[in-house]
Amino acid sequence: MTDRTTRRWVLARYVEGAPSPEDFRLEECPLPDLEDGRFLARVILASVDPGIRSRLSAGDSYAAAMKLGEGIDGFNVAEVIESRNPNYAVGELICAGGGWREHIVSDGRGYIQKITDRRVELGCWIGVLGVPGLTAWFGLNRVGQAKAGETLLVTSAAGPVGATAGHLGKALGMRVVGTAGSAAKCDWLTHDEGFDAAIDYKAETDLTAAIQAACPDGVDVLFDNVGNAMIDRVLPLMRMRGRIVVSGQVADYNLSPDQVPGIHNTKPFITHRVRMEGLVVFDDIRAFAGAQAAMADMIVLGSLKYRIEEFQGIDALPQAFCGLFRGENFGRRLVRLAPDPKVF
Ligand SMILES: NC(=O)c1ccc[n+]([C@@H]2O[C@H](COP(=O)([O-])OP(=O)(O)OC[C@H]3O[C@@H](n4cnc5c(N)ncnc54)[C@H](OP(=O)(O)O)[C@@H]3O)[C@@H](O)[C@H]2O)c1
Repeated sequence: MTDRTTRRWVLARYVEGAPSPEDFRLEECPLPDLEDGRFLARVILASVDPGIRSRLSAGDSYAAAMKLGEGIDGFNVAEVIESRNPNYAVGELICAGGGWREHIVSDGRGYIQKITDRRVELGCWIGVLGVPGLTAWFGLNRVGQAKAGETLLVTSAAGPVGATAGHLGKALGMRVVGTAGSAAKCDWLTHDEGFDAAIDYKAETDLTAAIQAACPDGVDVLFDNVGNAMIDRVLPLMRMRGRIVVSGQVADYNLSPDQVPGIHNTKPFITHRVRMEGLVVFDDIRAFAGAQAAMADMIVLGSLKYRIEEFQGIDALPQAFCGLFRGENFGRRLVRLAPDPKVF
């Protein structure tokens, strides 16, 4: 064992309601000597993802609850700095699911992708080209069967999944409407991001009426990141053979199971043959590379935009994460732990 150490954030106590920084603890631990077949990577960027909230409370939700003292999940861009694995050379860049930590020790199994396309900034690989962007891509195309000329409604549209879904919908030739939690976010969506309309759901007393006004022909595809109450409000507006993509449930993650609202407006499932289907993006992992190549080309050509909010230093991870549940983020929140390596 060397005397080298590294740091990582662990779960200090189970979260009740909205998460707070005190729910997490920064821990120093030894870096082990590398065994054969393993490599060591230095984390450059780490992400904060609302979906991990579902594992931070005692009791399982759709994913098993974390153990106290376990490292917090997230995605990383990292650089291999030592290797005893012939498939990973020193200096190679990867994206991986290491979490809120300074170093990753890996045997190469699990979610690890080499970053070979440096036309786009590194943060894209855990943002618009990473799990959020891929969720938008497969949610819209495979699950939502989105088509030109249709109306797409995206909820939590100013987040990285929602904004990417909106851009992809526009690139397909759809009418794209978003919901978001402030006038500033709605202005950003319509003025900078190319959405046809945006609705501040917090300012509307009758959200269904506001969505109807923005989607006068009804909604063909609802890409929902928010949860049951939102789906219930949109169901009466779904068009014949409409599709509801259940991407996320950010409004429900802080609720106990008995507090999560139900869905009541179920009649359109019959009258309008509406289909509702969830996705787990890793189901499409074999198709990731093709989707990423297509989206990288779109970024380079300017038809796919993204926004990164970068925080500095490992200490910033809990506050960056907790802000997601106060609606603070515009686009993808990433935390920088080390500078980008130079491109030669
Ligand atoms: N299915 C999959 O495989 C998969 C993979 C990745 C992510 N996801 C899910 O996709 C969704 C979007 O992820 P993201 O990374 O892009 O995060 P995100 O949408 O940026 O999530 C944070 C945003 O959620 C909104 N929000 C927070 N609390 C809310 C509430 N009570 N009611 C309504 N909105 C609330 C806030 O925006 P406002 O200001 O607009 O309220 C906040 O800025 C998440 O639910 C995530 O779990 C699914």
